[in-house]
Amino acid sequence: MKIIYTEDYKSMSRTAANIISAQVILKPTSVLGLATGSSPLGTYSQLIDWYKKGDLDFSQCYAVNLDEYCGLTKTNEQSYAYFMYENLFKHINIDMARTNIPDGTNPDADAECARYDKLIEDLGGIDIQLLGIGHNGHIGFNEPSDSFKKGTNCVHLTRSTIEANTRFFEREEDVPTKAYTMGIKSIMGAKKVLLIANGAAKADIICRMATGDIEPECPASVLQLHNDVTIVCDKEALSVLAQKAPEMITNLPR
Ligand code: F6R
Repeated sequence: MKIIYTEDYKSMSRTAANIISAQVILKPTSVLGLATGSSPLGTYSQLIDWYKKGDLDFSQCYAVNLDEYCGLTKTNEQSYAYFMYENLFKHINIDMARTNIPDGTNPDADAECARYDKLIEDLGGIDIQLLGIGHNGHIGFNEPSDSFKKGTNCVHLTRSTIEANTRFFEREEDVPTKAYTMGIKSIMGAKKVLLIANGAAKADIICRMATGDIEPECPASVLQLHNDVTIVCDKEALSVLAQKAPEMITNLPR
């Protein structure tokens, strides 16, 4: 696990965008595993800038997103499909036919999860998976539980996740309570994992993820077992780890 310190959100985003750019330049047909939420917004905006300057070409890339709320159509402004279109896809030259996200409108959870797992397999797996992390240690929507869920699965979101997501909805009762998410096996199957986190509210969970037991109560802790994980955080998100295990941080300023 390589842990990179950055000063602030802007610099975290730029570093993450650099890593993704390197992937796209070295392998133009890359399968990019993407995430939604507030953490990757700056990364996407930096990638868009570099694309507009002519430094990046996404025309041969594929995208597979981590998750989608159940019940929301792609045109619903709160859906993750809409988020991806508005915040990244419509600004770059990715072929929309090569972008993928679980279909939140498919009521047959087993069929939808099996379809998504097969799609990832048929693409040859994910080259780089971008992740944020929930305050409770969730990755994708793999919530703390008593076992690691392997493949794409339909989850009941926890109260804390629903509360954290309320900021995106007008009323808490509008927040969907279920989602389809890639499972831990698909995430761990990615050739590279890039996790980003910013802000003091993520400091405890970043420390637990990196130094705690590997347990399904903290789903992100499983990343300790992956052989190519890069964690890029701002100073605040690293504040607890910097106290507990400073040697784990590659470039902690002295
Ligand atoms: C989003 C996702 C979630 C978020 C996590 C952090 O596709 O899968 O795991 O990455 O909830 O969200 P933010 O970035 O909003 O703090």
